[in-house]
Amino acid sequence: MPSATYAATAPRGQAFEIHPFDGAVGAEIIGLDLAQPLNDTDFARIHRAHLDHHVVVFRDQRITPEQQIAFSRRFGELQIHVLKQFLLAGHPEVLIVSNIIEQGAPIGLGDAGKFWHSDLSYKPLPSLGSMLHAQELPSEGGDTLFADMHKALDALPAELRKAIEGRQAAHSYTARYSEPKFEGDWRPRLNAEQLAQVQEVIHPIVRTHPESGRKALFVSEGFTTRIVDLPEDESRELLAELYRYSVLPQHIYRHQWQPHDLVFWDNRSLIHLAAGCPGHLRRKLYRTTIQGDAPF
Ligand code: OGA
Ligand code: MN
Repeated sequence: MPSATYAATAPRGQAFEIHPFDGAVGAEIIGLDLAQPLNDTDFARIHRAHLDHHVVVFRDQRITPEQQIAFSRRFGELQIHVLKQFLLAGHPEVLIVSNIIEQGAPIGLGDAGKFWHSDLSYKPLPSLGSMLHAQELPSEGGDTLFADMHKALDALPAELRKAIEGRQAAHSYTARYSEPKFEGDWRPRLNAEQLAQVQEVIHPIVRTHPESGRKALFVSEGFTTRIVDLPEDESRELLAELYRYSVLPQHIYRHQWQPHDLVFWDNRSLIHLAAGCPGHLRRKLYRTTIQGDAPF
């Protein structure tokens, strides 16, 4: 193809910078506009940053839900959340994460992450990564925490590592479903059809990242219910130990939201937690969820 034609059709590159954070994980991307078309070279840089830093923060993104969906799709197929009542009208690929009540009814999922978890680990094909785009932020609180599960695995003492070798664990969406933890908890009852979509699944406790080849711990207090083939008390104690190593402070990045942040994390490398905010303050974010591989 003559270069003139190519120049006319391929989007121009954007001059953006990737700044890794000082702490355990994460990087911020400055000077990129996701409302503009993204060429393959720029996309490859972003993809690399996501693999290397596990969570990337795109600052100041004035993008529409359609643009968030289009960008998310470049990483894979999107997953539609089981709570249909909280999907954005006209865009079921977007889950509304919000504590806002309008006309007596919540407009979104109010407690999208009040226990540490990896999104959709309760599905046979859990999420590769999720994107949250800030729509309305509280003046206080509302942070999201991310913990590095590669580092968690590396930190395990030898006996603990041996105790989980080759083992699998069960994950269930309803594991902690009805446990209130913070003020203003609200979760709709699941109907039979929804319950059928969230049957328990079994995944390896140590998974291999399909793109980087690195191993990571893959259990969480939010969705993991038991270790397969272990007596219940042993399973409970072992999981409690694993959870303790999963959230060592030196392995955590705490995201303090800024207006128009778009945060994209890797659910194969991290677990995350919503720190919560005072119930009377409004918080609303749009989430897209990209499907990943079967953990191995
Ligand atoms: C999520 C989630 C955390 C938050 O949307 O998957 O866990 O801080 N959200 O809202
Ligand atoms: Mn989540």
